[in-house]
Amino acid sequence: MTSSKDKALPAALTLRNVTKHFNGAAGHVTAVEDITLDVREGEFLVLVGPSGCGKSTLLNLLAGLEHTDQGKIQLGEEPVRSPGRDRLVMFQQDALFPWLNALENVMFGLRLKPDLTEEERLEAARYYLSLVGLGDKEKARPHELSGGMRQRVALARSLAPNPRVLLMDEPFSALDALTRDQLYGDIQKIFMNRKKTIILVTHNIREAVCLGDRVVLLSPHPGRIQQIFDIKLPRPRRMNDPALATLAAEVTAALSSHLDSTKIS
Ligand SMILES: Nc1ncnc2c1ncn2[C@@H]1O[C@H](COP(=O)(O)OP(=O)(O)O)[C@@H](O)[C@H]1O
Ligand SMILES: [Mg+2]
Repeated sequence: MTSSKDKALPAALTLRNVTKHFNGAAGHVTAVEDITLDVREGEFLVLVGPSGCGKSTLLNLLAGLEHTDQGKIQLGEEPVRSPGRDRLVMFQQDALFPWLNALENVMFGLRLKPDLTEEERLEAARYYLSLVGLGDKEKARPHELSGGMRQRVALARSLAPNPRVLLMDEPFSALDALTRDQLYGDIQKIFMNRKKTIILVTHNIREAVCLGDRVVLLSPHPGRIQQIFDIKLPRPRRMNDPALATLAAEVTAALSSHLDSTKIS
């Protein structure tokens, strides 16, 4: 499934036999089990799977917000034990500060860069705001922006510090289909220009196939890697491309076959 050309790229993140349990109100849960995966530098990797299969848990482990019970995660040569500037997380509804305008919200993301002068911060914030198509909305407060625009500001805020890895947990799922399609275009444009390592969690399979270099399908309870799909379609990809629909149908078939077999057993 992996070509020799791909193997030549260094791994940005390595996961080895990663398992995570929770002891919650509902009792003991194994959220993810025995996950082994290399995420390559500059790769767009998408995690998909049914609700509750451990996608967010896996992303939080990569972010260092949760700790593995077994196995290990490394960023390059370094073990991931805590959150770090090299890995930024963007959530489903990434709250902007209502009292700051769009530009100031993006600048806030740059507070983690103490080596930058105020002027450099301003310049970087302007650059990323225009990259997401909001160069003319600098002064707008969040309540003056649509949901899609707010999510674009959040995207600019995550990109501005130029983290080595961008982790995104269902960042588009609260948006309408039209706004989502526009953002798929934006994020691909940014990805093609900046070649950042991105890991995106979604339960939307078409979105996964539209954005991912590889789509990792997790099986439910506990979340294990069920199958990995290499998506070779040229970029930028469009949601209405029939080739994309065909691949999405393949992933969906794999997902439902597993759900059916767990129901029978
Ligand atoms: N902090 C927590 N405490 C207890 N159980 C949790 C916690 N976080 C997640 N879980 C459980 O772990 C499993 C995976 O959850 P999650 O990673 O949120 O799945 P997904 O993001 O794929 O919907 C679920 O059964 C969920 O209830
Ligand atoms: Mg989740």
